[in-house]
Order: sequence, then structure tokens, then C-alpha cells
Amino acid sequence: MPESTFTVCAPGRLSVMGGHVDYNGGPVMPIAIPLNITLHLEPHAANTVELYAEEIGQHAQFSLDDLQHQHSWIDYVQGVAVELKELGIPLHGFRGTIKSTLPMAAGLSSSAALEVGTALAFLHLANESLSAVETALLCQRAENKFVGVQCGILDQTAIAACTADHALLLHCNTMEMEQIPFRLEQHAMVVTYSGAPRELASSAYNDRRASCGKAVEILQKEFPYLHQLCELNPDDLPLAQKVLSALLFKRVRHVVTEIDRTKRAAIALKNNDLKLLGNLMDGTHNSLRDDYEVSSKELNWLVDWARKQSGVLGSRLTGAGFGGCTVTLIEKEFIPQFIHALPMEYKQFSGIDAKCWEVTAVDGARVL
Ligand code: GLA
Repeated sequence: MPESTFTVCAPGRLSVMGGHVDYNGGPVMPIAIPLNITLHLEPHAANTVELYAEEIGQHAQFSLDDLQHQHSWIDYVQGVAVELKELGIPLHGFRGTIKSTLPMAAGLSSSAALEVGTALAFLHLANESLSAVETALLCQRAENKFVGVQCGILDQTAIAACTADHALLLHCNTMEMEQIPFRLEQHAMVVTYSGAPRELASSAYNDRRASCGKAVEILQKEFPYLHQLCELNPDDLPLAQKVLSALLFKRVRHVVTEIDRTKRAAIALKNNDLKLLGNLMDGTHNSLRDDYEVSSKELNWLVDWARKQSGVLGSRLTGAGFGGCTVTLIEKEFIPQFIHALPMEYKQFSGIDAKCWEVTAVDGARVL
């Protein structure tokens, strides 16, 4: 077991394309971003984990021999410990401080960053390693089973497997991955945090997942081979419309068209066709707003405002929605005026302080 202090860095993730398709087996295309959490740790002789989260001023601890729900952020760490134990990885205690530049509950995956970061810490102390996919699946199980949120595999894989200057094209049905060069040259992605609370986010998220499962059951009468919505094509939509309720059809139409947009976005990125990428991002937002109904008035305002600004090629909500962030593809020379004007105008509309960051694609989580 290492004697000395060590640091783990886990970035947030930005979902560039592929909204609410991961749990339908579709492709997603995230990047890891420079907003991150860092864990400054040292081994703890006692069999306990003790952490201080600096930004929120909270201490939390647990014994590795007694993993009980605490209904706080420490449950993400405990969930990871439970899953590592299941794999037979020997667990050692540690203590230290978590510093974060990644806003919590903002749709940039601070919880998955904490899961993947602590998985790497436990593995480092055990002198063991897992592949990025194994780590991601383990952390997803921790969130599904211990924390109780039925998230897909997007966030944890992005944080474990992204590489600098690349977007990760992940096929969630097979876990096949491709790193696509992400060099936007004269353009950049700007992330805007709406600051609006994400009320009901996890119950509405679980509800959307359940709707997709229900739609598959009904559609199996017409499409007997169907296991996941990713197996449908846009051409199948007219037949799907005949057997689904109006609401379920809208949910399915979002998933099927978003899978198509994500595939086209990956090609656009490879061809450096940023105009097309921007159009596809616009299409994603409209579909998440109208068909999947996971936007909010703040997110719609931010997207509508962004689309009117000079140099903007596209804008959409990112992450699960119901609050959180938008992402805008914009010409670099217009970023200063965008970032200057947005907070004032948004505050007039919402009374809330927005935050904006220009982001690049960085490496996923690692022990420094
Ligand atoms: C959240 C979930 C992911 C994914 C996105 C929506 O971030 O954790 O699994 O479903 O929402 O694309």
C-alpha cells in the first residue's frame, strides 16, 4: 500500500450530442472538460474513509466494515466501495480533502466524477487496476444500486475514458468506443449554467426511462426483434406512431431522431463541418424541449438568446435537463461579447446569476 499522499483528478463531462439515448443503447458523444474535482488523499491506518468537501464545508466519514446509507454525497463513495468489495478488491482506508471547480447538480456530472475519482483512489491503494469500461460499469452499478438513481452509462464512461483533444463516440449497446479529434480551431464550446434548481430531476428522469421500457414492450408486437429503442430506424416511426399513445410516440421519436443526429454529428466532426454540427445541436435541443420534455424555461431562454448572438452555430441544453446547463458552439472571436452580455440579460429575465465557461476537451480521471 502506498505510504504517502496522492492526488486524483476527475473532470466533469459535457454531453455534446446524444441526449437520453444511453439507456436506450444509442451512441453518445461527450468530452471531458477542465472543470473538475481533485481529491488530495493519504492512506488511513484505520479502516475508515474521512473526507472534507471544501466548497460546501462538509465532513463525512464511514467505516469500510459498516457501509450504511447516509443520504448525502458520501453515498457515492460508499456505493463504489460496496462494488469494489463485490469484485474482491481489498479496500484500504484513506482521508483527505475534495476541492472542486465543478458545480454540483448542474448537469456536468459532479457525482460521476466523485464516483470515478474515488474508484481510482481505492484501486491505487490496493495496487490494482481496472479498464476504463470496467471502472465506468462499476461506478454506474454503485449509482444504480446504492444511491438509487437509474442513470445510464454515459457519465461514468466519459469521465473514465475521455482523452484530451478528442470527443468520445461511445456506442452504449456494445460499449465500443472511438476517439474523434475535437479541434474546433476558430470555434469553441461555451457552457452556460442556468443556476436554476433541478427540482424533481431524478423522479422525472426515472419516469422517462420507464416510458422507453414501456414503449419497447408495446412496439414488440410490430417489431418482434426489438430489445432496445436503438434498434429502431427513423423509417420505422410511421408504424410506431400507429401503436403508441401520442405521448409515448413523442418520447420514442426523440430517441430515434437523436440517435440519427448523433451519428451524423460524429461524421460532421470528422469532416470538420461545424455548421452541420451546430444545426444538429439545435435539432437536439428542440427535440429534448418538445418531444422528450426535459427542458425548463431558463434553459429555453438561454438557448433562444444564444441563437440570436453573432458567431453562434448551435445551442442546446446538455445533460439530463430539468435545469442545469446549455452548450453553445460559437466562433471564438465572439466569445468575449457573449460572456459579457449573457449574465446581465439572463439576470433580468430570471433573477439568477448565470455562469459561462469556454471549455476544451481534456483527459479523463487519473491519479496525478
Ligand atoms: C444523465 C444520466 C446519463 C444520461 C444523461 C442524459 O446525465 O446520468 O446516463 O442519461 O442524463 O443524456
